[in-house]
Amino acid sequence: MTSPPAEPDLMPLQPWFTSLNELLIAHQHLWKRNPFQGPEQYAAALTDSQIQTLETLRTDQAEKLQADDRLLFDYLGYAFPFAKAIRQLLDILPPAPTDSEVQAPLQEKYLTHVPGRKQEQIRYFAQMLSPIQQPMLDWCAGKAHLGRSLHRLCGHPVTALEFDPELVRQGQRLAAGMPIKWFCTDVMTTLPDGCLRPDLHSIALHACGDLHHRFLQVSATHRLERVSLAPCCYPKTQHTIYRPLSNLAQQHGMTLSREDLKLAVRAPVTLSSAENNRRKHMQAWRLGFDLLQREVRDCADYLPVPSLPTSVLAQPFSEFCATLAATKNLPLPASIDFDFYEEAGLARYEQVTRLDLVSSLFRRALELWLVLDLAMYLQENGYAVTVQQFCPATITPRNLCIDARRKGEA
Ligand SMILES: C[S@@+](CC[C@H](N)C(=O)[O-])C[C@H]1O[C@@H](n2cnc3c(N)ncnc32)[C@H](O)[C@@H]1O
Repeated sequence: MTSPPAEPDLMPLQPWFTSLNELLIAHQHLWKRNPFQGPEQYAAALTDSQIQTLETLRTDQAEKLQADDRLLFDYLGYAFPFAKAIRQLLDILPPAPTDSEVQAPLQEKYLTHVPGRKQEQIRYFAQMLSPIQQPMLDWCAGKAHLGRSLHRLCGHPVTALEFDPELVRQGQRLAAGMPIKWFCTDVMTTLPDGCLRPDLHSIALHACGDLHHRFLQVSATHRLERVSLAPCCYPKTQHTIYRPLSNLAQQHGMTLSREDLKLAVRAPVTLSSAENNRRKHMQAWRLGFDLLQREVRDCADYLPVPSLPTSVLAQPFSEFCATLAATKNLPLPASIDFDFYEEAGLARYEQVTRLDLVSSLFRRALELWLVLDLAMYLQENGYAVTVQQFCPATITPRNLCIDARRKGEA
């Protein structure tokens, strides 16, 4: 006799979260500090053998590890024993579906007018949501590519919320004749009458920080029947310190600044090689300028400077430095050897790239911590919840998603 399928709410979110939380807190000196701002201080927290392990890597090898969590954990696992514990906690996530598993539910004909990369995301997201059995709410819908495609798949009507009137206009045109009801509204304010009903399945694909918090609060408060979310851009929040939604995370003493949240979205797997070269060039020049400003100001402190458009990379390094110095009213002496600092910046970039691998061991753990906070909030509010990877990270690195169903009232 085969055993019955596991109840979705039996996934033990609380112990999973508590273990992750303990690990992150125990090692916060390694992921809350940024080697970019002081590689020497960062390296001082590592053992000699850990430093030796990092130093054996060429920059191109370090960049390869940075782009692939599996390789990263394999390479650093021996020298950094906590990596094994992190990996065990990440491996609780069921594997992402493979390409052959997602062909069936959402065929190409349903995805007309959806741009390439978004098509793939929607195809995988639809696979995770299938079967859809209720009318849907498409939260921060954009042109409602998602809502339109899902309507074609399951036939249920859609309510689309979006605050950009141009996107609403274009979305309405694309959805002409379909039962899609549009509300051009700011979801962070009071929502218009008639857009929320308890029989809805609320769906948000890639809603940023505050928008996904509000999505869950609105969905849970209005007791919507099913709630599905793939969060993204965690640092996009008006709060300087992260405000956990779940009671458990609120009690766990983790303080996350907006800067800390950036680690959860650090994953250069979707950069093209030209973008990656520009990023590298910019980082090396910024590090070169940082060494120069320390010398000019005669101090050992990092100086935060604004980001500049990549067009500045077409200028000589000396002009780049002059532009940054001007943003800080820092006069530069005429005698500066810019070639020296440009070269030193590149060497520092290589050092920082290797050290960054250590904090990268924590990036997925931090993202999972944030997602579990959201999932536990729904559980605390009477939902049966699963946390999954809806697609491979090569389709989008923001591939974690929460699927929650309201439990029957007692
Ligand atoms: C990352 S896009 C996601 C779009 C869509 N869900 C998708 O996957 O294609 C975020 C969308 O949220 C909309 N948005 C941002 N802030 C909003 C707000 N306060 N109220 C309503 N929509 C908002 C933006 O205009 C944009 O269309």
